[in-house]
Amino acid sequence: MQLAAWNYEVGSGIITEIKEDKLRKDFGIPQELSVTAVIGFGYPQRRLTGNRKNRIPLHELVYNEKFRTRKRS
Ligand SMILES: Cc1cc2nc3c(=O)[nH]c(=O)nc-3n(C[C@H](O)[C@H](O)[C@H](O)COP(=O)(O)O)c2cc1C
Repeated sequence: MQLAAWNYEVGSGIITEIKEDKLRKDFGIPQELSVTAVIGFGYPQRRLTGNRKNRIPLHELVYNEKFRTRKRS
């Protein structure tokens, strides 16, 4: 959803630190549903550059099946 939104220049942010009781009350969410994350969407106030972020390369961050096991290429 976030990537699809970004194609239309709509920004978003995922939040997992939520006040579940308040969220249930405000949005009328029934008890049988568990709220694990909220994603807010909106048009950015300023133009975002789209420059690449200085992220850890995926191959340094991701393990395969077991902790500290790299995927063979
Ligand atoms: C699973 C997940 C949960 C997150 N929960 C929160 C949150 O509860 N509160 C918050 O301020 N940011 C939270 N974030 C971080 C932001 O949504 C966002 O990823 C952060 O601002 C960095 O954005 P970037 O990845 O585009 O640099 C969460 C990120 C992830 C991936």
